[in-house]
Formats: sequence, C-alpha cells, structure tokens
Amino acid sequence: MVFFSRFFNSIYIPVPDTTQQFEEVLKSRLFSSISNQIGMIGYVAEDLRKISQGFESQSDTIGHIDEDIEYLSSDGLENPESADGGSESFTGTINTYYDEAFYNDDGIMGLLLGDTEFRNIGYWDDQTTNQNSAAENLQDALLEMIPQKAGRILDAACGMGASTKRLMNYYAPENIWAINISEKQIKSTQKNAPGCNAKVMSAVEMGFEDDFFDAIECIEAAFHFETRKKFLEESMRILKPGGTLVLSDVLMTSKHRLEQHAVFPDPKNHIQTAEEYEELLRDTGFKNVVVKDVSREVWGAHFLFVVNRIHEEFYHGRLNIVQLTEILWTYYYLDAITGVCLFASAQK
Ligand SMILES: C[S@@+](CC[C@H](N)C(=O)[O-])C[C@H]1O[C@@H](n2cnc3c(N)ncnc32)[C@H](O)[C@@H]1O
Repeated sequence: MVFFSRFFNSIYIPVPDTTQQFEEVLKSRLFSSISNQIGMIGYVAEDLRKISQGFESQSDTIGHIDEDIEYLSSDGLENPESADGGSESFTGTINTYYDEAFYNDDGIMGLLLGDTEFRNIGYWDDQTTNQNSAAENLQDALLEMIPQKAGRILDAACGMGASTKRLMNYYAPENIWAINISEKQIKSTQKNAPGCNAKVMSAVEMGFEDDFFDAIECIEAAFHFETRKKFLEESMRILKPGGTLVLSDVLMTSKHRLEQHAVFPDPKNHIQTAEEYEELLRDTGFKNVVVKDVSREVWGAHFLFVVNRIHEEFYHGRLNIVQLTEILWTYYYLDAITGVCLFASAQK
C-alpha cells in the first residue's frame, strides 16, 4: 500500500529573518501540509474519533467532532471531475495517483524506499532492515505457497516490475506474463524484466484464453479492483485446473473509506475480515483455500520501521521538524485506516 508516497510533496521552507517570521512560516507550512494530507486521504467520522481519542475532554484544540461528518475536505481525488468538468474514469484516477506517487523522486521517499522498485509494504521479520528485503520476503512467502513453480505464471498488477523480475529466479522469461492498467508502469516492467510478456491490461478483464496459466500472483493491489470478485472469477477462468492463485491484500478498517476515496472501488468490494475473504474465494469455486492474517508482519512492522527510521534521520539532522511531523501525521493516519493484511492461496 504504497499509497502513502504521494503525500510527501517537496519541502521548501524559506529562510525567515526574525523569530516571529520563522514561527509564521512553520505554522503555515504545517497547517497547509497537514490540511493537504487530510484533503488527499479524506476523513470519515470514525477515523477522526479514533485519532483524536481522549483529546475532546482535555482541550478544544481538536474541536467538536460532528457525528454526521462523513469526510472533511477534498483535493479532487474524492471527486473524479476533471479540471474541464469532464469525468475521469476509475482507471484514470488510479493511474494518475500511482504514476505520480511511484515516480516521485523526492528525498523522503528515497529515504524510506531506498533504491527498490517494489511498491508494497513488505513482510518483515527480525532480520529485515530495509524496504527492498521486506518486499522480497513478501514475494518469497507468496511463491512458497505455489506447490510447483513450473509452466506459465501471471504477475497481476505488477507495479514497476520488481516482482516480475524476481519471478525470473524461478521461471523462464517467456513463461512470465505481467499486467497493469498503467502504460508507464508497464514500460518500467519491460525494462526491469526483459523477455517477459508485459502488457497493459486490467486484472478484472483479462484477455487471456481459458486454462492458460499454471499460477497467478497478485501483490497488494486487489483493494483497487472493481471488484475483487471479478478478479477472482477471471483468475478461475484463466488458471488451468489445479493451478494456484497466491495474493497479498489489505483490508480497510471501514467501508466508508471506500465510499469517499476515488482510488477505491464501490463499497460493495469492502471485506472486513480474513474469514469473509476465505468465503469469497470458496464461493468463487476455489479449493484448498488458505487465508493467513499477517497484519503484524506487514503493516505493523512497516509502520514501526518508518517511524524508527524517520526519528533516526531527524536526530542526525537529515529531516527537519516539519518533515518529521508530516510523515508522522500521515503514518498515524494510515494506521487508523489500515485493517487486516492477509496472504491467500487457493487452487482451481
Ligand atoms: C500498491 S501497488 C502494488 C504494485 C506491485 N504489485 C508491487 O508490489 O510492487 C498497486 C498496483 O495495482 C495496480 N492496479 C490497480 N488497479 C488495477 C487493475 N484493475 N488491473 C491491473 N493493475 C491494477 C496499480 O497500477 C499499482 O501498480
């Protein structure tokens, strides 16, 4: 869920002359950046309640939380109207969002991601010290759930192709397919995984023949699919009998999140628990369904990594107080909205 990367815009603080000016600059910078973030992600009443727990009684800084608030503000993402009044498609909205976030080379993202081209939260154990290793662990854990790594495999929603490239450790390039709705990301995939079959295609409408693949992997993307069910039905169709689907997914804490943010599909796609996920896979016809709750090793550990890392950078003088505050704000917010992280495997 590297949807956080878009929140960190380039940071520019003019050098003020006086203490008072300095204070004003800081105040306005913090105010505008946090307001922008609120606008970008949107808040629902229950998020506000969770984040501000305990504040109401102590002071009125946070103010009264209106029970009826659905969300507070918008930066255009919640409203897919384009500047000229036309309506952007759902695909266009997701592409604008990720193409901007993934290729944003500002200092903070570089700091957190290193030079990895994976764009997921990763799977962290005691030995994991950086985002790239975490992402590799995540993919390896999914691939372990494929009994025989042979024949054709599809990397659905391949991002910039880091996972497609890693598949080449197990499969011949001509047996690897990768799809994404973004042309820009597919171009990166073609560069990162030469010889593989990378195509612009949606995971909910896959132009492959029936019974074509031995395996499908899908890393941290199904929460965008309109809908998960359609993706699972398509996967059933294009897998060979006995073929395996492995995926990692993130569930939101609330269906309201899907209602008010344009990068999420219709709220009917909302799933609250790992058990419901299992049921959906079974209802679609999959056998040998296994769904594991890995929230602690995925979001929980990534969150701690980021929070530790930015404090380290702050104390070494490589981040200033405004940058630190902005990232903390974003991460605590994301923590409030992130529900169960799961791995699933299933067979046709
Ligand atoms: C959080 S990123 C994960 C990228 C990649 N799997 C990785 O782990 O590096 C989510 C990805 O899903 C892609 N995506 C969203 N909706 C899609 C759809 N309907 N079909 C294919 N790709 C989609 C986005 O373009 C983005 O690359």
